[in-house]
Amino acid sequence: MSEQRRVRFWVNDQLHELDVSPRAMLLDVLRNQLLLTGTKKGCGHNACGSCTVIVDGEAVRSCVYPARRADGKRVQTIEGVATDGQLHPLQQAFVDRGAVQCGFCTPGMIMTAKALLDRNPHPTREEVIDALARNLCRCTGYAKIIEAVEVAAGRREPQGELEVPLRVVGRRMPRLDAWDKVTGEATFAADLYFDNTLYAKVLRSEYPHARILRVDTGRARALRGVAAVLTADDVPGVKNHGLARTDWPVLAYDKVRYLGDAIAVVAAESEEIAEEAVKLIDVTYEPFPIVSSAEQALAPHAPLVHEEGNILEHIQLARGDVEEGFAESDVIVENEYRTPRGDHVFMEPEAAVGLIDDGRVVVYVGSQIPFSDREQIADSLDLPLDQVRVIQTKVGGAFGGKEDIAGQIHVALLAKATGRPVKLVYTREESLLVHPKRHECVIKLRTGAKKNGRLTAAEALILGDSGAYASLGPYVMTRTATHSLGPYEVPNVKVDCYAMYTNNPPAGAYRGFGVPQAHFAAETQMDILAEKLGISPLDLRRKNALRIGAVTTTGQELRESVGLLETIERVAQAMEAQEGFASPTAGKCRGWGVACAYKNVGLGGGVPDSAGVEVELFEDGHAQVRAGAAEVGQGIVLVLAEIVAEELGVQYDKIDVLVGDTDLTPDGGATTASRQSYISGNAARLAVRSLRGTLACVVAEELDAAPDRLAFREGQIEGPDGKGMSLEDAIRLARAEGRSLVASEVYTPPKTVPLGEEGDMHFAYGYATQATEVEVDITSGQVKVLRVIAAHDVGRALNPQAVEGQLEGGVLMGLGFALMEDFTMEEGRPQKATLTKYKIPTVKEMPEIIPILVEHFTEEGPYGAKGVGEVTSIPTAPAITNAIYNAIGVRLFSLPATPERILTGLKETERREVV
Ligand code: FES
Repeated sequence: MSEQRRVRFWVNDQLHELDVSPRAMLLDVLRNQLLLTGTKKGCGHNACGSCTVIVDGEAVRSCVYPARRADGKRVQTIEGVATDGQLHPLQQAFVDRGAVQCGFCTPGMIMTAKALLDRNPHPTREEVIDALARNLCRCTGYAKIIEAVEVAAGRREPQGELEVPLRVVGRRMPRLDAWDKVTGEATFAADLYFDNTLYAKVLRSEYPHARILRVDTGRARALRGVAAVLTADDVPGVKNHGLARTDWPVLAYDKVRYLGDAIAVVAAESEEIAEEAVKLIDVTYEPFPIVSSAEQALAPHAPLVHEEGNILEHIQLARGDVEEGFAESDVIVENEYRTPRGDHVFMEPEAAVGLIDDGRVVVYVGSQIPFSDREQIADSLDLPLDQVRVIQTKVGGAFGGKEDIAGQIHVALLAKATGRPVKLVYTREESLLVHPKRHECVIKLRTGAKKNGRLTAAEALILGDSGAYASLGPYVMTRTATHSLGPYEVPNVKVDCYAMYTNNPPAGAYRGFGVPQAHFAAETQMDILAEKLGISPLDLRRKNALRIGAVTTTGQELRESVGLLETIERVAQAMEAQEGFASPTAGKCRGWGVACAYKNVGLGGGVPDSAGVEVELFEDGHAQVRAGAAEVGQGIVLVLAEIVAEELGVQYDKIDVLVGDTDLTPDGGATTASRQSYISGNAARLAVRSLRGTLACVVAEELDAAPDRLAFREGQIEGPDGKGMSLEDAIRLARAEGRSLVASEVYTPPKTVPLGEEGDMHFAYGYATQATEVEVDITSGQVKVLRVIAAHDVGRALNPQAVEGQLEGGVLMGLGFALMEDFTMEEGRPQKATLTKYKIPTVKEMPEIIPILVEHFTEEGPYGAKGVGEVTSIPTAPAITNAIYNAIGVRLFSLPATPERILTGLKETERREVV
């Protein structure tokens, strides 16, 4: 052990004298010794800014700031920003402007902005952007963060509320969970500290593909401070976990199929000892040839990743007669498109804590599906379901990347083996290596159209790299297939789609669920077709757009809530109204591009899809909503509170929302497929309406009015003659009569059918059109997205501010997919498994985003709402690449549109022009 050093420093005006190790960073000391967990660890190497604190007036990255350097200095953390329970104006502005989603980046953002405002109280927008340029946020798209800082700086007016007919629903409301997130009080799994805790580390594979011949844990077990070392032999129940298939070993037992495979887990008295122990485990492998891509996996005689073969799923779709359709076509275009593997880069790396409570296994985790986690933990530990409890902590972003098991089963096994709490926190590198990615795809697309622009036929062949294990690959690639022709009516269709096993990281859910890849191809194809036909890209889309009465690729007739045409019109109008930026300088060219999108809401395809919600009323007039839905930053807590407040006629801060505790909440299913507002939202509405019925019956007699004539408003229940009773009194009266004031409801959406069967494959869809303006530097190949007009049909915007936040975040994620993100693998080894190498958009890349909310209500959705989370990021990439083409004449068939690809494209264009 290295020698400790004594340091003396002030933290939030309190003097501390501590012994710290010479290698300790300020972040470690703040979190582990002072338990100031508001400061977050997102990367550990100065790449994300989540750990920012202020030291002697300067914003510093505490993950790389040696603790000994703080000696004699004054440190301010997020916990010291609010005073006497009053938020600092900056924190208040973050709450009011909707600048908080998952909240993981928020403390670092606020501390960086505060350091700026402390030295420059009225910074310009450019100065704000410069100051925040090294703080990453993956949820918000930065727009509302910048606005919040501008409000706090007195450079922007606070925003007024919109006039809307409903009292709570439809208004711009701050999130209920924002206060905790701006003060650092929000607890993520890594922030939990229990007495007597052990720390876990995982041994990962050395080879992407190999047989395991021997695992020797003897030296690791003998290391002082090690409490347990577990291998596959120590998994008492089901050896595999998995969502679509149980093919993913909890701990590898025969072979390894990718570098993220876990071979052994260690629990020790400290992280350092656990790390040391992992290094002492000896594994003997027999390396196998590596399957590096979907194309290679499909080739004859390819090495087998799984014994059953490399095809995870073959999805086929056919409608009409595709050959006849092409024969009728006046123009046919055929191209091959390639999209990269992508990482979610949620700001909070995976973390879990397992412990034994009263003989039961309890796991704290920031997961998207706590009930599925419980099932998979129970299966692997061979325990009855009721012996496992999963408690959802705050989730620092997910975007589909926290649906699969990460450390949940490992901490449960270790807690069971040791009887002590066990905490496992992934490093950023481990997070990038292990969790499922967006599918890398190759899409061959052939599209035919008449001279008048009507599409006649389309044919697609799609290969998706699903990696080592199934994850949600079969479902994701089914969405790629069914959405592969874009949001258009095409009478003759044939699609063949393969999800392939390879020795790359598993691929699974990622915002858009396979549709961003499909739409990049389809929407590029539409622009190429428009040019060949001499029709404007917008007109070609207008002609073929899905509308009420149209039939989708899968044969579903659309009967309601199809706002696609309106999104096209609203974008067209907004483009016309745009004022130009100052002319580009020499060597730079500008262009606009458009793209449309649609995306299903809910699981669909005949998969059971329901959610339960329980609501309880209390005598002080407040209500508690208990829902299994996971809050991952998207705002379901706010949606549920708004719905219950709306129905009860009270302010939404009278509503507490408890989510994702398998002991205390009903099962809400997965937070995926933009489904929770619709499904859990409806369950909440049903439950609170049942309680309204109870109260109305009780109060009716007192007010001498029929129960169905009573109105719930402003904390009162009123009869038609104006006589009323307070909600609190009504609750007391109902309780005195022995009525139950707890209502539990399960909502099941309209039936859907599997692909290939006649009927509705999905019960609702979101629609969108986006236009982007780009500026391309023809010398460097750099692309700057200047602005994005984003019109989205969201059914009803339950909270416009939150919907805009989703939209802005989605657009920036789409921009990353378009221009920079590529999780490249070579021979099964990642080339960019750090945040310094895998670049995501920063505030510097943020374009001006003009959100347009289009409301085509659904009949079933709560107040007409449908999901919005995913479709926001789908049209952005093709809108950008179409804009690049319009700026410089370079057509991109592969993403990302890197400077190298742009320059190569420019050279080819020049060559063609010369010829
Ligand atoms: Fe910024 Fe989630 S709110 S990362």
